Formats: sequence, structure tokens, C-alpha cells
Amino acid sequence: MSWGLQNRVSRLFKDGRTVMLAVDHGYFQGPTTGLENPRRTVTPLLPYADSLMLTRGVLRTSVDPGQAVPIVLRVSGGTSILKELSDEVVTTSMEEAIRLNASAVAVSIFVGSDHEKDTLANLADMVNAGERYGVPVLAVTAVGREMARDARYLGLACRIAAELGASLVKTYYCEDFRKVVEGCPVPVIIAGGKKIPERDALQLASDAVRDGAAGVDMGRNIFQSSNPVGMIRAVRAVVHEGKSVEEAARAFAKPAKPAR
Ligand code: 5RP
Repeated sequence: MSWGLQNRVSRLFKDGRTVMLAVDHGYFQGPTTGLENPRRTVTPLLPYADSLMLTRGVLRTSVDPGQAVPIVLRVSGGTSILKELSDEVVTTSMEEAIRLNASAVAVSIFVGSDHEKDTLANLADMVNAGERYGVPVLAVTAVGREMARDARYLGLACRIAAELGASLVKTYYCEDFRKVVEGCPVPVIIAGGKKIPERDALQLASDAVRDGAAGVDMGRNIFQSSNPVGMIRAVRAVVHEGKSVEEAARAFAKPAKPAR
């Protein structure tokens, strides 16, 4: 691993863990609830995010280039909720990611779908480009409606992503999640998934880090919360400070201190 690639990976983590804020949902589902105006949603959350996962369109239009949060740039897409989601292509080049000063790029893979091979090729191509320039690739294990989110399937998808050279992998929490982590030689982070009650989302984050996740890449459970800043602070308390769900839930309810 080159020094540059290691340096970029290290920007994403604090003490081996990360709270990545995912706001890339619009790339296939349009103006997602809570993200209709990305700037308004993202700005107050930035001080609490270890990194920000988004597309170049939202980065350019909605994030001040003067801020310091590391960027995880989504570079696969080209599909919408109206059609087959797995039929993705690479939408943004590695050179563009570097121009945008991305710390990593994110590519979805759809293992088991009709387009499995194309999406794995997208990942492999971006890993090859990333190796040339020292840019890590986050593989996103996307799950089709018909696919089980169990340790066998997610373990398969995560391991394939790591074998193709992803520097980190995003997946879903599941029963026997430890097996997924044990079978994957690179850090695994979890997506939050659909909005659920805040306490349940904190429990999800807590269970995931207990079972070996290196953190979360969470979106809807933060920006669709009634108190997004309180929620991201509570997620940080679980992921970075090892707080219990009860303690974190109290942090959720408290008014925010001035940001760092
Ligand atoms: C979509 C993504 C999202 O960023 C990911 O699902 C995380 O967001 P959420 O916590 O809302 O699930 O990669 O493909």
C-alpha cells in the first residue's frame, strides 16, 4: 500500500473508528426526504462527521470548499429507482476525484444480480486507478430487494470486495455479523438503512462496533431524525467513546455544544 493511500485511509478514521455521514442517496432516488436541500442538511452536521460520502454534484453545489471534512466521493451510478438499480457504471473518473481532493472513492457492487460482473469490474477498475494515484476505494455491498441480508451473503460480498482490492467495505449489520468481519481482511463499516427509531439506530451502531465494525456510514437515521445534530453526536458517543445506548440517547436529547 503506498504512503499516499495509507495517508488518505487514515484521514477517515479516528482511533481506528469512523462516523461517515452518507448523503449520496439522491444519485438514484432523487430528492430524498431530508436531503431536498443538501446544503441545509449537511452544513450543521459537518463538524461532527469524520467524513462525508456524496456525489460530485452535491459536493460542488452544496459544500463549502473551505471546510476540512474528508470526502468519500461516490463514483458509481447511472441508474434510478425507476429501472434496474444494479446496472451501474463508473460515473466519475479517478482524476476528477483527485481534482476534488477526495480522500476515497465509493463504488457499489451488486453480488448475485444480473449485473454482478459489471459492478465487480467497476470496482476492480477503480481499485487499479486508485493504486496508480494512492486513492483508497470503499466498496458498497448493495443488496437487491430479493437478496437476504444474512452473514452468508454479506460475508460473500464483503470478501469479494476485499479480494478485488477495496481498502474498506460498507455493508449491513446482520445476525452473526462477526463472521462477516472475520472473513473480510479490510475494515468493515455498516450502513444505517431505512429510518428507524433513534434508540434502535444507536443500538444498531453499538452492536456493529461490538461485533467488529470499524464504524458506520450512516445517512437516513441521522438526517431524517427529528434532531439530526443530536443524533450524529449520539452516534459518535457510541462509536468513538464506547458509550452505552442509554448514555448516547441522553446525549441525543441534550442541546449541542459549540462544534469543534
Ligand atoms: C446508497 C448508499 C448510502 O450511502 C447508504 O445506504 C448509507 O445510507 P443509509 O444509512 O441511509 O442507509 O450507499 O447506495
